[in-house]
Amino acid sequence: MTEKAITLNNGVEMPALGLGVLQSEGGEATAAVSTALQAGYRLIDTAAAYFNEREVGQGIRDSGVDRADLFLTTKLWMTDYGFDSALRAFETSTTKLGVDYLDLYLLHWPWPENFNQTIAAYRAAERLLAEGRVRAIGVANFKPDHLRTLVKEADVVPAVNQVELHPNFQQPDQVALQGELGIVTQAWSPIGGVYGWAGENGAVPPLQNETIRMIAEARGKTPAQVILRWHLQEGRSAIPKSVTPERIVENFEVFDFALTADDMASIDALDTGRRGAIDPDHATPAVIDLTIDAA
Ligand SMILES: NC(=O)c1ccc[n+]([C@@H]2O[C@H](COP(=O)([O-])OP(=O)(O)OC[C@H]3O[C@@H](n4cnc5c(N)ncnc54)[C@H](OP(=O)(O)O)[C@@H]3O)[C@@H](O)[C@H]2O)c1
Repeated sequence: MTEKAITLNNGVEMPALGLGVLQSEGGEATAAVSTALQAGYRLIDTAAAYFNEREVGQGIRDSGVDRADLFLTTKLWMTDYGFDSALRAFETSTTKLGVDYLDLYLLHWPWPENFNQTIAAYRAAERLLAEGRVRAIGVANFKPDHLRTLVKEADVVPAVNQVELHPNFQQPDQVALQGELGIVTQAWSPIGGVYGWAGENGAVPPLQNETIRMIAEARGKTPAQVILRWHLQEGRSAIPKSVTPERIVENFEVFDFALTADDMASIDALDTGRRGAIDPDHATPAVIDLTIDAA
């Protein structure tokens, strides 16, 4: 059974499918968020480092959807790691978004060279959780070793780890560990968008994959819908990005069909084991050089 919501390890319900807004800029981001919420989405995934928190907030207000009915995620950027700076960055993000609480606050990347500061930032997220400023906390791009260290040192097991995951890069060991630890896996670049912004990596992007195209034709659905349905049937959350109104609607029309066990196995077999984006072991603020603006 594919549920529309996933229960996190602290009992909070998170919609399984949401809208991602990386590289959605200005009015385009506002319109995408508003269109998505009107189409039925209730999860929006942004980040301080997407430089669109103000526009996302505007899109939420334009949509007319009640804040209480929405699941809003944003992420803390590495330059704000450390306890006090993380607390300040949270205030900056919520001010830009125009909200007084978040549903999910994620550390955007591990900073392996500076893991003490990473842990200190997570401690700040724990504080925000205890104070009721966020309903759940988690991480993104944490590899198994990062997760094991964090879980040893932290009081709160992350509710979510958001990682690169699409048919070409499925990370079965990472997903299995997260299952053991009670951490929900949320797929970023769920339909393979990473090949659009990080290069082709020698692989055929999932939307162009012949196996996926054949399944889509057989089920009377599009390749994007088949891939999103595959994530949901695997029990994962996925946050496809689009600024195209028709695609935003299309990507949410995945609750009216099912993939067979054979379909699922055929997509599982497409894993190349090669990621499209940088290896999180090499993440540093210098490698991904961004400056977060003030509120
Ligand atoms: N935590 C992290 O480090 C991290 C990293 C990357 C991404 N993310 C999150 O994950 C979200 C999604 O990842 P992503 O943006 O990299 O990739 P994605 O959602 O896999 O793919 C987005 C790309 O696919 C296109 N697209 C969307 N729906 C389509 C459809 N139905 N048919 C054909 N093309 C379609 C979009 O184009 P148009 O917009 O032009 O329609 C865009 O170029 C991000 O927005 C962000 O919220 C997180």
